[in-house]
Amino acid sequence: MLLNNPFPSLIFQRETLCPSLSPSAFKNVNGFSVVRYPKKNVGGLVVLASKEAKDKLLTLDVVFKPFEEVKKELSMVPTTPHESLARQNFCDHCEAAINDQINVEYTVSYVYHAMYAYFDRDYVALKGLAKFFKDSSVEERDHAEKLMDYQNTRGGKVKLQSMLMPLSEFDHPEKSDALHAMEIALALEKLNNEKLLNLRKIADEQNDVYLVDFIESEFLVDQVESIKKMSEYVAQLRRVGKDNGHGVWHFDQMLLKHGDGA
Ligand SMILES: [Fe+2]
Repeated sequence: MLLNNPFPSLIFQRETLCPSLSPSAFKNVNGFSVVRYPKKNVGGLVVLASKEAKDKLLTLDVVFKPFEEVKKELSMVPTTPHESLARQNFCDHCEAAINDQINVEYTVSYVYHAMYAYFDRDYVALKGLAKFFKDSSVEERDHAEKLMDYQNTRGGKVKLQSMLMPLSEFDHPEKSDALHAMEIALALEKLNNEKLLNLRKIADEQNDVYLVDFIESEFLVDQVESIKKMSEYVAQLRRVGKDNGHGVWHFDQMLLKHGDGA
């Protein structure tokens, strides 16, 4: 029976390949029932041996010809030095947007580091806030590094940019320094979230599904959790009011014992 098969190729059991197809989907060709196999990106033909074939074998007329098909890709492999070999479907726009986000993460880290230095001063001495902002600074730097790793993974080039000098004083005439700093931190987290959403939007517009997935899975969920945490700290410090004494000290002790970076 199979000697007359007009589609000599791989042989599969019908039950394995297309158990859900109705008999009407098949056409008879040279005694074989033929159906276009619906698998995405295959587009080939499935051949079901005629009813005389007792073993119900199928032939899939999709032959992967690696040495033919690879020729196009081979011609596109860069031969010049200083050019990524791994880069594929990664546009310049996404590369630039990742570098911008690296700068955002570093800048937020820089501000938090300045807050750490302020609260660690001998005449401020709020050790819980100092620790919290130091941890937060490290975490934002980790975010920058994660983006740098990703940039290299996709074959882009990391280009670090300038950062503005952050504030060094956080006292405020109408509120405690702790509340003032925490409100700045909350605003920074929200701004960072906007920047991440913009990066995700650019990736989506460029049909870069890998970058979309990376931003969503590695950044966006954590970001909303950071905003929630900072919001709670601002709310708690507002309850303390303008008092820059015992209430703030109590909050600071709580952070020292239970707080971690945002
Ligand atoms: Fe971050």
